[in-house]
Amino acid sequence: MTFLERIVGYFRENVEKAKGYEPGFQPGQADDVVKLNTNENPYPPSPNILKALSEITAEQLRRYPDPQGNAFRQAAAEINGVQPDNIICCNGGDELLSMAIRAFCDESRPVAYPVPTYSLYPILANIQNCKAIETPFDGEFNLPAKLATTDAALTIVCNPNAPSGTFINVDELASLADELKGVLLIDEAYVDFAEANCTSLVKDFDNVIILRSMSKGYSLAGSRFGYAIAQPDLIAGLMKVKDSYNVDAIAITLATAAIKDQQYFKENVEKVKADRKKLIEQLRALDFEVADSSANFVLAKTKNGKAGEIYDKLVQRGIYVRYFNRPGIDDKLRITVGTKEQNNKLLSALKEILAGEIAFPSTSLRAKGSFRSQ
Ligand SMILES: Cc1ncc(COP(=O)(O)O)c(C=O)c1O
Repeated sequence: MTFLERIVGYFRENVEKAKGYEPGFQPGQADDVVKLNTNENPYPPSPNILKALSEITAEQLRRYPDPQGNAFRQAAAEINGVQPDNIICCNGGDELLSMAIRAFCDESRPVAYPVPTYSLYPILANIQNCKAIETPFDGEFNLPAKLATTDAALTIVCNPNAPSGTFINVDELASLADELKGVLLIDEAYVDFAEANCTSLVKDFDNVIILRSMSKGYSLAGSRFGYAIAQPDLIAGLMKVKDSYNVDAIAITLATAAIKDQQYFKENVEKVKADRKKLIEQLRALDFEVADSSANFVLAKTKNGKAGEIYDKLVQRGIYVRYFNRPGIDDKLRITVGTKEQNNKLLSALKEILAGEIAFPSTSLRAKGSFRSQ
């Protein structure tokens, strides 16, 4: 028996067949590229973070970390106007999604979500062997009425949604939480760039979980830290599902320093929002159709529908945005808001491309990046 023959069958069938997680294209640190493809914050984190990092002791590394990350829970509770037992720390928001699907779903307990949205949801559902009920958004990304009647054990609404950047009002999500029999997880990974958030729903509904990420507004994608806000019973249930030490000592220290520096955070977010406004105006001036965005990225529809070709030409110039070869969004590019300099490089490249000044590359470069929506 060959090694391959032997290895087939060791995995559960759905894992065997799964395509698995495809991370977005991450160039090396030294690569001179304009990276606007994975919705990182273009600005560095608070200077307090590097100071906190320099003060990490050998003793902190020798010992296991606080299994619940209580220093962070305390700080995050104060900032969100809740109690520490309303908070659970996680190794990035992605881990919370994984924990929630493991905690609430199985073969007879589906997950539901509107599409198009974050493409990690179906991957996690597949691994858990639970059915994923996908209800399509309309053209304006309004909440589909059907979502309230799916009988799913877990309903996920990404708000602001990725890749559209659109925002669903808090009142609408309150009505959805009220109607659902199962849990409503509101994925607020991008909410730092929006004008409102759903934290207030946690007080009124025992079935609401809010996901937060430190990767976007707090510029900490490299550290991997996120958290959830929910009523204590839901938090206690999620605690049973998490890894014993799911957040490490360094990440707890950095995330706590980051969330405590609200002044830096607010200034950082305001810079991105101002850059976003300018980027949208300039893309519209280039004849892209761009909806208003509540996130740190924009979705730009090309007039000629040739988003894939434009993507290829940008890659040729070392500029990475995101192209999704999926129905409904294959005529659009998702562009992370970068620094002014990065945005300007993108805009001048687009101007040249649209004027037909760059030769089309002979082979498609699309394969170099992945298309997972982040
Ligand atoms: C919609 C959405 N939710 C959650 C996450 C998870 O973020 P992280 O694991 O970096 O906290 C991402 C990451 O890009 C995302 O796009």
